[in-house]
Amino acid sequence: MRAAWYERNGPAREVLVVGEMPTPTPAAGEVLVRLATSGVNPSDWKTRSGTRPMAAPRVIPHSDGAGVIDAVGPGVDHGRIGQRVWIWNGQWKRAFGTAATHIAVPTEQAVRLPDTTSFEAGACLGIPALTAWRAVQTDGGVAGQTVLVAGGAGAVGHYAIQMAKLLGAARVIATVSSAAKTAHARAAGADEVIDYRAENVVERVRDLTSGRGVDRVVEVDLAANAALLPQIVARDGFCACYGSGKAEMSLPFGPMILSGAAIRFFIVYELPPAAREAGVAQVNAWLEAGALQHAIGRVLPLADIVAAHEAVEAGAVMGNVVLDCTG
Ligand SMILES: NC(=O)c1ccc[n+]([C@@H]2O[C@H](COP(=O)([O-])OP(=O)(O)OC[C@H]3O[C@@H](n4cnc5c(N)ncnc54)[C@H](OP(=O)(O)O)[C@@H]3O)[C@@H](O)[C@H]2O)c1
Repeated sequence: MRAAWYERNGPAREVLVVGEMPTPTPAAGEVLVRLATSGVNPSDWKTRSGTRPMAAPRVIPHSDGAGVIDAVGPGVDHGRIGQRVWIWNGQWKRAFGTAATHIAVPTEQAVRLPDTTSFEAGACLGIPALTAWRAVQTDGGVAGQTVLVAGGAGAVGHYAIQMAKLLGAARVIATVSSAAKTAHARAAGADEVIDYRAENVVERVRDLTSGRGVDRVVEVDLAANAALLPQIVARDGFCACYGSGKAEMSLPFGPMILSGAAIRFFIVYELPPAAREAGVAQVNAWLEAGALQHAIGRVLPLADIVAAHEAVEAGAVMGNVVLDCTG
């Protein structure tokens, strides 16, 4: 098979190699997927650059992707051969991810992809869509709530706005940093959009909520926004935190205890099995219903993986960066 890999951590252009490798054989309980697409997420460049130890001497990056089941290992229903699928956790605690023409994964990590969903969209589900779902669904969900989605034009944020609305949020406020991102967040369903670089977020949120604050913050960068939290969250409010721009962060203790706010940290790779099952089922139900907009910001061939990593690392693309693995 054709694949991209690295054998040491470092900058994309120094460590990523594209070449030929043996196509894996599906083991017991596994399926072999012929990949059409591979999704690139911030986690992929962070892992490649060395924030996590090498999972193996050679790593094929990327956890998200979509394609067609080509073969199945012992114990797997032969009826799955030919099924369109999307992948989750392709390179979480595993050596070989989706930046390749093939991947062998446990059968449950290849989820049926509805016929009406493109392979490009299928490469955005394992991390961005499931993270957004978890952020709005966890700890009682958002029905009737006012929700602030920080970074509403991001890959996760764009889904979080949509899913908050789908799960019954009364009002969704998003923060963004440009006119194009404002339009993107509004098109996803945001009722109000705040340009966090040009406007005073605390004042705007308090104005929009008559001084009460929001019930839930979906946080993309807690290190940057920690000081805002007790000022924008309602009494005994909640923050679902999935990102931080820095490894260490501090919170203003006095304001936080006075606000009564709770923070849920989570990483999508480690969803509890019951939550994973519920999230996968919900995402697929929304796909079947045509209820989700997908933001495919850029599609590049597998051979251009260095450019893809550099674009994601630079935050240069609005929406998901996806590799075409068919070329
Ligand atoms: N916990 C998990 O399981 C999980 C899952 C997925 C992603 N993540 C992490 O979450 C982060 C975002 O991932 P992504 O794929 O959505 O990335 P993305 O597509 O680059 O989106 C990030 C968005 O956040 C905005 N942003 C940056 N700093 C901000 C701030 N201080 N306040 C408000 N908005 C801000 C960015 O726009 P501007 O820079 O223009 O503001 C951008 O629109 C990354 O750190 C990633 O590693 C964690």
